Amino acid sequence: MGSLFSLASFGIVSDGASAEGEGSFGLPEPVRQGEVSIEEALERRRSVREYAPVPLSLATLGQLAWAAQGVTDSDRGFRTAPTAGATFPLEVDFLIQGVEELDDGVYRYLPGRHALRRRIVGDQRDAVAAAASNQQSLREAPAILALSTVTARTAARYGERAERYVHMEAGHVAQNVSLQAVALDLGTVVIGAFDDDALAAALQLDDGERPLYLMTLGEPG
Ligand SMILES: Cc1cc2nc3c(=O)[nH]c(=O)nc-3n(C[C@H](O)[C@H](O)[C@H](O)COP(=O)(O)O)c2cc1C
Repeated sequence: MGSLFSLASFGIVSDGASAEGEGSFGLPEPVRQGEVSIEEALERRRSVREYAPVPLSLATLGQLAWAAQGVTDSDRGFRTAPTAGATFPLEVDFLIQGVEELDDGVYRYLPGRHALRRRIVGDQRDAVAAAASNQQSLREAPAILALSTVTARTAARYGERAERYVHMEAGHVAQNVSLQAVALDLGTVVIGAFDDDALAAALQLDDGERPLYLMTLGEPG
């Protein structure tokens, strides 16, 4: 797996270790024009549950992260998905295995910097699958996107309606990623059947963060 040495050789910027010993890693610039039309992506989108053992490239990871929450208006920080009152309650983690430039582990997407911050070292896919009735797609896929919410951010403005707003936002993000996956010739399936507490533990989420959705990602097998 990758090390800081290989990161340097790939021209990837590392901010080095933070106080917690976690690194953060810049992602390649996303592509903003593609060859697959929105209509074709809608037509071809289908849940995929079997994957080839082919890791994602860093560029692909960056593209998927951008589709989920990339900043598209740097003045105001607005992103590829809408958000109730610009309260930005969602957090995106990637569980990755085999990406050449990065150690296996769990990485948090930092939209403002289009970067990843490593949170957990080591392959967590089995723990995540165990929290989700052992769904095989979660064990097989080379990457998993985990979408979590800090509902308090939205509740500070909208009170009880925040609960429904964060679920709506998760749908927006998941659809963005689903369509981006099609355009990249990748498969995905959205997964909502899991034990919240077990998944929160597997992802080492902070207090106040709750898991909402999982998406497997990889080449169809
Ligand atoms: C809220 C939600 C939760 C879902 N949870 C799971 C799941 O836990 N496991 C799974 O394999 N598919 C899950 N799916 C995917 C559906 O099974 C799938 O979308 C459906 O069978 C229709 O197939 P299509 O996506 O190819 O159109 C979920 C879909 C939604 C919208």
